[in-house]
Amino acid sequence: MDGNVRPESMTRITTPELADRFIEEQVAALKKQIGDGKVLLALSGGVDSSVVAALLIKAIGKNLTCVHVNHGLLRKGEAEQVISVFRDQMDANLVYVDASDRFLDKLAGVSDPEQKRKIIGAEFINVFEEEAKKITGVKFLGQGTIYPDILESHGVKAHHNVGGLPERLGFELVEPVKLLFKDEVRVVGARLGLPESMVNRQPFPGPGLGVRCTGAITRDRLEAVRESDAILREEFANAGLQGKVWQYFTIVPDFRTTGVKDGKRLWDWPVVIRAVNTTDAMTATVEEVPWELLNKITKRILSEVKGVNRVLYDLSPKPCATIEWE
Ligand code: XMP
Repeated sequence: MDGNVRPESMTRITTPELADRFIEEQVAALKKQIGDGKVLLALSGGVDSSVVAALLIKAIGKNLTCVHVNHGLLRKGEAEQVISVFRDQMDANLVYVDASDRFLDKLAGVSDPEQKRKIIGAEFINVFEEEAKKITGVKFLGQGTIYPDILESHGVKAHHNVGGLPERLGFELVEPVKLLFKDEVRVVGARLGLPESMVNRQPFPGPGLGVRCTGAITRDRLEAVRESDAILREEFANAGLQGKVWQYFTIVPDFRTTGVKDGKRLWDWPVVIRAVNTTDAMTATVEEVPWELLNKITKRILSEVKGVNRVLYDLSPKPCATIEWE
């Protein structure tokens, strides 16, 4: 039987009881596969890698080393949450690498979106490989592959930029959620005690805020993306929209527009808000955000985010616009 094909008889994990049974079976299977071997896992903080980490912690404890690479393009508070959940609460072996400067230096002056993606992906592998070499005796690589990854990209978690890792490092793969769909991974994550904000996290691209700071990334504009995104997320959560709207974020394009403040003319960036709904990310519709909420978010962004004088709402469905701006 092909281990990458979900058997038709497999029950969909929709309840806590079914999740508990899955966890029990997987922990036993992981113990059997790994024995007293060591496993390395690139932990992004996304739901898939977080669930794999939690399963492995349950199965092999300190024989798992999680590596969280901060590429400098994470959302506000994201690295802190990974450290707090995995190191402080789950007592995991967690290596935190703040490689922000390395990534941002490599990206300086690069405006082509695909080139930016390539640089981020390649640098991620470099950093991870360097960390892997510091840990001796590792035989296995944990990976948060889920079933749609297998169906769509022949088993390579291309979006997470770690597709080339197992080959380069010669590791055996450990992929305990590879036959699950996203909604099932979330049910399992909740039963493993992961926080709600992690389990129901909206999709976040591998290149992170890098594709929302369009053109050549600068540190000040990146900060404007990060701060405006944090305000948007906070206000959507306050309005009860978290978990209801599929994906929402801000973009700060690489041009300035005129504004006026205290009688002085300004030359600052606009912030674009994007909020969309979809089932498969192939097409998307725009969320009808209440006007009052948009106004509140606009006021906050204009008063709290440095270098910004204008807020726009993106009304474009996919197609013909993509969800991300680049
Ligand atoms: P687009 O912009 O193509 O996005 O309509 C569809 C979905 O894919 C996400 N996306 C990415 N995810 N690496 C990722 O991991 C990427 O380079 C990337 N580009 C887009 C996007 O956020 C949306 O959910």
